Amino acid sequence: MCGIVGAVAERNITPILLEGLKRLEYRGYDSAGIAVIDSDGQLMRLRRSGKVAELEQAQQQEPLAGRIGIAHTRWATHGAPCERNAHPHFSSNEIAVVHNGIIENHQALREQLKGLGYLFTSDTDTEVIVHLLHYKLHEMGDLAAALKAAVQELHGAYGLAVVAASQPDRLLAARSGSPLVVGLGLGENFLASDQLALRQVTDRFLYLEEGDIAEIRRDSVRIWDIEGREVQRETLQLQEGAEAADKGEYRHFMLKEIHEQPKVVQRTLEGRLADDQVLVQAFGPQAAELFAKVRNVQIIACGTSFHAGMVARYWLEGLTGIPCQVEVASEFRYRKVAVQPDTLFVTISQSGETADTLAALRNAKGAGYLASLTICNVATSSLVRESDLCLLTNAGPEIGVASTKAFTTQLVGLLLLTLALGRSQQRLAAGLEAELVGELRRLPSRLGEVLGMEKAVEKVAELFAEKHHTLFLGRGVQYPVAMEGALKLKEISYIHAEAYPAGELKHGPLALVDSDMPVVTVAPNDELLEKLKSNLQEVRARGGQLIVFADEQAGMDKEDGVQVIPMSHVHEVLAPIYYTLPLQLLSYYVAVLRGTDVDQPRNLAKSVTVE
Ligand code: F6R
Repeated sequence: MCGIVGAVAERNITPILLEGLKRLEYRGYDSAGIAVIDSDGQLMRLRRSGKVAELEQAQQQEPLAGRIGIAHTRWATHGAPCERNAHPHFSSNEIAVVHNGIIENHQALREQLKGLGYLFTSDTDTEVIVHLLHYKLHEMGDLAAALKAAVQELHGAYGLAVVAASQPDRLLAARSGSPLVVGLGLGENFLASDQLALRQVTDRFLYLEEGDIAEIRRDSVRIWDIEGREVQRETLQLQEGAEAADKGEYRHFMLKEIHEQPKVVQRTLEGRLADDQVLVQAFGPQAAELFAKVRNVQIIACGTSFHAGMVARYWLEGLTGIPCQVEVASEFRYRKVAVQPDTLFVTISQSGETADTLAALRNAKGAGYLASLTICNVATSSLVRESDLCLLTNAGPEIGVASTKAFTTQLVGLLLLTLALGRSQQRLAAGLEAELVGELRRLPSRLGEVLGMEKAVEKVAELFAEKHHTLFLGRGVQYPVAMEGALKLKEISYIHAEAYPAGELKHGPLALVDSDMPVVTVAPNDELLEKLKSNLQEVRARGGQLIVFADEQAGMDKEDGVQVIPMSHVHEVLAPIYYTLPLQLLSYYVAVLRGTDVDQPRNLAKSVTVE
């Protein structure tokens, strides 16, 4: 989704801004722009629809240079993706603003500002902010005071960066509902919506909190909180190397991230297992006390993270008997919910900034839940900071828009949660925890073996290159795995893919099946195998083409119209983790064959920070 970069320094900051935008490209965007105050004190800008590379080319032809500036990648919400709507937006060539988020009362503000004589040159909600600021600046004379006054009139979500030609030594920022981080340098300071944008210039960061306003100068950073009090925010020194921006030997980040899964799953497990037990304290110091009280679990997430939650429901109810409900955040947040006593409220998110998931957590506070827990990949994210308990998945930065290693590490985290909760309440079958801990220890190396199927999957992908529709089938805990497989395929190859519980076929979707419709199925050797086989017969009888990822002991044979890709026998409980990998590879190779933009599929954003 939209990205912000800002810098104030003694050197020319244009290359820093452009590099920052490149590092944010993975988030998805449709136009980009940059504004600086040049050596004559003039605000200058360049904007382009399309990729940052086009902006960079334009910058080579009409070089911009300055010691203070802001830049943006836009993902269109209000107004088409075109140059006129790209940020930065200007008011009278005096103020420039970049904005992430959505201003809900933009229509009313636009009318007011037009009444005051302001001319609008874009269709965006953002343009009201820059004119409002211009008006306040002329009224008050001070940019920080003007920003504090202007944000009082904004309804909605924003992360803002502002520069004004009349005050060329300071960069202003405001955060409400859209993250911002300040990067600290030596005699220079920076701003971004994601620290990744600034890793080339600093490893010291402070994170703005909800309602904060910041004034960033070359040699100082001042912050005021939502009440207007001047506050200090903790500075964090990041240890991890700037590994993320590098694809290494791989053609795409997605393929790199698929192959990283053995290593990152190992990291998710590190420090979380004792000899034959899960360490409850891995979820936080209060976890042991709280887990003993949990009678019910409510899981909230979006997209791929929601699918991880669906798998967890099978584990929690199946292995511990603790009731569990799973819902997408965008529905849950607007629903009146009857909260069961002693319910643990669990959010799952790769980014920790997904607007709907965060809103659901905020609504849950004070609604009667026992406590909140997040399973998240970003330690500094809003979800982590605002939840009572947390388990970091430690998957490392995920750059491909399609979530891969984030999903499997979430599953590992959720299995750890299942075992920790089950033991806290003596609800696990004797010996089960020790058995599954052993299986978890073997998981990284066995995932490496599963990746050995890559060539076979690449071959099968050819069957999909010309297709327009596919069905994914699974039963039981494999149903959410099928849902995740279908989501991966549709988002990066643009082939319409739907997932169904295999038993639902004859209640409608069977009507779609013909020889032009590949049907993908995951078939571990579990208690539902025989039922699944009957469902697959229904598909065969209608001429459907089956592609089955099947346990080598499942007795599935290759026949006309049936491609069987054998999988080694795996533990039934961990099967959803193993069976996810070939489906990720399948969608990857289909997308490559179709020539799509695998890492940045059209219309999608990595971190969905607007509703
Ligand atoms: C799909 C994908 C999305 C995200 C969803 C939630 O590959 O990545 O469906 O899973 O937008 O994002 P997070 O997990 O960051 O809350």
